[in-house]
Amino acid sequence: MATVKEHYDGVLADVYSWMFGGFASGVTRNTDFFNTRGIRPVQSGVALDLGAGCGFQSIPLARLGFKVTAIDLSGPLLRELEGNAGSLPIETVEGDLTCFDDHVKETVELVVCMTDTVLHLPSREAVAVLFGKVAAALDDAGTLILTFRDLSGELTGVDRFIPVKSDEDTILTCFLEYGAETVTVHDLVHTNGQGGWTLKASCYEKLRLSGAWVHAQLEGAGFGSVDVTEEGGVVTVVARK
Ligand SMILES: C[S@@+](CC[C@H](N)C(=O)[O-])C[C@H]1O[C@@H](n2cnc3c(N)ncnc32)[C@H](O)[C@@H]1O
Repeated sequence: MATVKEHYDGVLADVYSWMFGGFASGVTRNTDFFNTRGIRPVQSGVALDLGAGCGFQSIPLARLGFKVTAIDLSGPLLRELEGNAGSLPIETVEGDLTCFDDHVKETVELVVCMTDTVLHLPSREAVAVLFGKVAAALDDAGTLILTFRDLSGELTGVDRFIPVKSDEDTILTCFLEYGAETVTVHDLVHTNGQGGWTLKASCYEKLRLSGAWVHAQLEGAGFGSVDVTEEGGVVTVVARK
C-alpha cells in the first residue's frame, strides 16, 4: 500500500489535471462553485487551501482577492500550481495539512479542503482533530468548505471497476476494495508511448465518511451553521462558526 504522497507523486500527479478535463476546466468549475456561493473576502482575507493539489481552488480564490496559503504533500502538483499562479498572492507549502497551523500566523477567513482531500486523512479521529483546529483558526464568522465523495455505501462485483477517463494515449481505471472504515483505491494508468502500452499502478486508502457523520463532528467542533448537501454521490459542506 502506498502512502498518499507516494500515490500522488508516483501515479496521479502526471494525470491529475487531465483527469478533470484539463487545468483551465478545473479552474473554471471551481470559480463557478465559489461565485455561486457568494464567496468573497470580507474579513482578514486569508484563505487556506488544505490539499491544494495543482491549484483548482487556490487560483480562483486568489483571483477573488484572497491571500492564499496552499498546502499539499505532493511536490509535483504544487509545482504545477506555481507554474499557473503567475503573480497571484499564493504561498505554497509542501507539507502535511494537519499541521497547517505551523504555517499561518493570522486568523483565517476561509478554509477549503476539497475533492476528497479529507478522505485521505489516516482516521476519523484525525478528521475530528482537524475540524477542531480549523474552528480555532477561523475568524469569528469564518467558513470551512469541504467536498468529498460519500463512500459509506458499497459497490460490489464488477461495479467496483470504474473507467475514470481515457483518450487515445492514456486510460485511467480505478478499482475499489471495501473495508469496514476505509476503501482501498487502486489506480491503474495505462499510457501509450513509443514502446507500446505501459502500466503504472498504485493503491492507497480513503476514509468512508458520510455527510451525517461530518455534520455531527463539525457541530461538535463548534461550528454554529453547518449546511450539508449531496448530489451525484458528492457531499458539499459549508460550515460557518
Ligand atoms: C483529490 S486531490 C484534491 C486536490 C485539489 N483540492 C482539487 O480539488 O483538485 C487530494 C490532494 O490532497 C493532498 N493530500 C492528501 N493528504 C494530505 C495531507 N495529509 N497533507 C497535505 N496534502 C494532502 C494530495 O497530495 C492531493 O493533492
